[in-house]
Amino acid sequence: MADIEVTEDKAAPRNDTDAPLLEIRGVTKAFGSVISLADISTTVRAGQVTCVLGDNGAGKSTFIKLLSGVYRPDQGELLMDGEPVRFGTPREALDAGIATVFQDLAVVPLMSIWRNFFLGSEPTKGRGPLRRFDAEKAKQITRSEMADMGIDIRDVDQPVGTLSGGERQSVAIARAVHFGARLLILDEPTSALGVKQAGVVLKYIVQARDKGLGVIFITHNPHHAYPVGDRFLLLKRGKSLGDFAKSEISLPELTRLMAGGAELEQLAHELEREGDKSGALGRELLEDTKTLG
Ligand SMILES: Nc1ncnc2c1ncn2[C@@H]1O[C@H](COP(=O)(O)OP(=O)(O)O)[C@@H](O)[C@H]1O
Ligand SMILES: [Mg+2]
Repeated sequence: MADIEVTEDKAAPRNDTDAPLLEIRGVTKAFGSVISLADISTTVRAGQVTCVLGDNGAGKSTFIKLLSGVYRPDQGELLMDGEPVRFGTPREALDAGIATVFQDLAVVPLMSIWRNFFLGSEPTKGRGPLRRFDAEKAKQITRSEMADMGIDIRDVDQPVGTLSGGERQSVAIARAVHFGARLLILDEPTSALGVKQAGVVLKYIVQARDKGLGVIFITHNPHHAYPVGDRFLLLKRGKSLGDFAKSEISLPELTRLMAGGAELEQLAHELEREGDKSGALGRELLEDTKTLG
């Protein structure tokens, strides 16, 4: 009699009854008398993307520093797989599988691609006094991990500085995936990039998600967030304007909330008074706000 083989799709996102990969419950953080974050909650699931949106000073960077062990919350708690966790240091967060790509990327432009990939985690061969850095292995792993993301790097010896902005982001993302991250946090990875390069980075976010990682994507651009996001947390001056599942909010609603409805309408009228080109943009914005009634 033939055995019936039951296979599990490991990359498939967990269903909604499972505990989220990371749950953030009512975190608050103050610096002296300045409250940077007040009572913020959201969730990140494996195989999903949670976007954190807000203008400058909204508290986005403070938020990810609470998740990556740089700061500890004054109030509130973090739960991983349903269990409360506390990170005393960034190393502890990393060991728990939370990899953060900070805005400045922490890559060294003059250093080769493969050395950047292995920065701080160089593979070694041999034992004891014979133990040495296995450069050939490191280069081969870098090449294959990058190829896995659809980037063909012929010469991994070339300096990271010769790569485009989007490709540099991809080195940081591929590195996090290779070293076993479960949760990938990206702080404004698209903000310094042109439209095409931003699209490339959005594709890498989707790839990390499809590998089963949870992703936190920080941005101030709803047009970057909406196509890839499953959940949207909106911050304004340290407060939450809402934490929405995608089914609960449309792109025009997200845009309107981000801009603040009345402010957006005023901006649209101002733009309309400007020349032809921006007039079109103004009308577009007005259409967006009108569809919201
Ligand atoms: N280490 C700190 N000391 C004092 N104030 C801080 C510190 N970090 C952030 N803040 C304040 O918290 C607020 C939110 O900052 P931040 O998290 O960097 O916002 P964002 O990343 O959304 O631009 C700002 O008003 C900022 O001045
Ligand atoms: Mg910031």
